[in-house]
Amino acid sequence: MRKAVIPAAGLGTRFLPATKAMPKEMLPVVDKPAIQYVVEEAVRAGLTDVVMITGRNKRALEDHFDREPFLEQTLAAKGDHAKLAAVQESSSLADLHYLRQGDPKGLGHAVLRARAHVGDEPFAVLLGDDLIDEHDGVLEEMARIQDLTGGSVVALMEVEPEQISSYGCADIAASEVGGPLRIRGLVEKPEPSRAPSNLAVIGRYVLHPRVFDVLEQTPPGRGGEIQLTDALQTLAVSEGEGSGVYGVIFRGRRYDTGDKLSYLKAVMTVALERDDTGPGLREWLKGVLTPTN
Ligand code: G1P
Repeated sequence: MRKAVIPAAGLGTRFLPATKAMPKEMLPVVDKPAIQYVVEEAVRAGLTDVVMITGRNKRALEDHFDREPFLEQTLAAKGDHAKLAAVQESSSLADLHYLRQGDPKGLGHAVLRARAHVGDEPFAVLLGDDLIDEHDGVLEEMARIQDLTGGSVVALMEVEPEQISSYGCADIAASEVGGPLRIRGLVEKPEPSRAPSNLAVIGRYVLHPRVFDVLEQTPPGRGGEIQLTDALQTLAVSEGEGSGVYGVIFRGRRYDTGDKLSYLKAVMTVALERDDTGPGLREWLKGVLTPTN
């Protein structure tokens, strides 16, 4: 697997007014925009060809991952090699491509836009809002299961039952011990009382290209949008090449940078773990959190 699709066309209304003139994907997590962590994760998994599905107001994404000769010259002249390396790093991560979604018709529609670019090979989808702390290489494991089964694979995470209505939800079939976890059904954002489980689909997918044929035929679902979850439900119950959907359970930390509290937790976690910001922040937090009377 070589290719990753990163849908990044969403409007970011949950972060207005910060996202009025700036894409939500550019919100910084300490000193890097959130989207760079997602691209770096794809690159770590060996995905060297990344296509972003963007829209209006997303030019900053292209600029961020492009060269900036004037800034580079200025930093070089000043001898600021650390900053120069940081600036150059984002423009040399991967072979990046951009496609515009056009009509905002949902995640399934955004993925379908990548069809001509991806062609007839398995590919990964990483949602730009989801930051995961993946010490265990979840994408690599998903690629392994895809290779083994020939189907499609989603990353799953256990959530509190009342939170399941924010996610795609997977119904797991009984599986052999140690064997791949087969999914027999998927439903987009169910009411907790109707959810088949508390296993949420998080924003990482490894898909068989047959998903494109299915997406072409998938009618608008929840919210009037073409849902990737609905296409995967079709594949889960189909027969033949490229059918079957499997799950890999993710047990690390995950943040939704489209949600204010979750975004702040992501910033704090990264800042606390870094040598340059961790000690000072920890010290300050202790003071802030200790009652004074
Ligand atoms: C999307 C998917 C949903 C998935 C979620 C993960 O929803 O439609 O199935 O669980 O991402 O972040 P969104 O958060 O874009 O509404």
